[in-house]
Amino acid sequence: MSGHGLLDGKTGIIFGALTESSIAWHIAEACDREGAAFALSNAPVARRLGNMDALAEKTGSPVIWADATSDDDLADLYETVEEEYGTIDFIVHSIGMGVNVRKDQPYEDLNYNWYQQTLDISAISLHRIVHHALESDALNDGGSILSLSYIGAQRIFSKYSEMGDAKALLESITRSFGYRLGKRDIRINAISQSPTKTTAGSGIEGFDAMYEFAEKVSPLGNASAESCADYAVTLLSDLTRMVTMQILYHDGGFSSMGISDEIVEAMKDSFADDADDEENDA
Ligand SMILES: NC(=O)c1ccc[n+]([C@@H]2O[C@H](COP(=O)([O-])OP(=O)(O)OC[C@H]3O[C@@H](n4cnc5c(N)ncnc54)[C@H](O)[C@@H]3O)[C@@H](O)[C@H]2O)c1
Repeated sequence: MSGHGLLDGKTGIIFGALTESSIAWHIAEACDREGAAFALSNAPVARRLGNMDALAEKTGSPVIWADATSDDDLADLYETVEEEYGTIDFIVHSIGMGVNVRKDQPYEDLNYNWYQQTLDISAISLHRIVHHALESDALNDGGSILSLSYIGAQRIFSKYSEMGDAKALLESITRSFGYRLGKRDIRINAISQSPTKTTAGSGIEGFDAMYEFAEKVSPLGNASAESCADYAVTLLSDLTRMVTMQILYHDGGFSSMGISDEIVEAMKDSFADDADDEENDA
């Protein structure tokens, strides 16, 4: 897609680009295409695990390594942002990790230290990032803040476990800050995205089933990371200046569906297989 200059003259910071598959990676590429200048940030450990430096080179962006659960790191981060850009117009929070989920610890038996880490990394980090932006006066009036959520915040997807709680908190922080930021015309929204094949996504047991199920239920199919990035651009642009405190489904229609013909057919096939098995057993 060619750019439309939707973010011409805007500056920002994008958190969470790890690899080429990361949603934040695609958002950074789309912001670059639309004329924005931005810094990239990720946890120091991501330097070893990913290749964000390549993205920085491609988009001509400075990199600021910061653990989004650390107040000291975030305070330092905004000092560097100020040196680079003065003040900024947008923040993208694309950070998440479910520690119990990764370690296969079931919801009924959560390790509470890991649970706190999950909430800290995946939700409270949004609060910290906004708090430090305000404290350092980094964000311009009329700015836009965006994070990434998942429908597991509202409905139970059994394998999503503690991450459903983390996303519910993230969405609540979005509303709580939205009220307070409104007096400066700053908007804050979350995109609730389809299952997407990324490092965070594939860390969830049963992810392939969640992905295929959503693909078969959604009238438009699953939304890709590229299309998510295009949607993100609109939310960072002035075209959506009156949209705030919203959880915006970007999911090919999944959130409005119950069952689809494809799932009905798949269930019929599975009933037929069960009947065959029973006959063979008899
Ligand atoms: N992949 C999906 O299916 C899907 C669906 C809906 C929403 N999301 C959300 O999209 C966002 C981005 O995830 P993704 O799928 O692109 O996966 P990803 O693994 O590429 O991105 C997650 C990022 O979080 C960063 N991170 C982890 N701990 C951090 C910390 N302490 N400080 C700073 N950064 C830290 C990681 O380094 C990584 O860059 C997450 O909020 C995720 O929950 C993902």
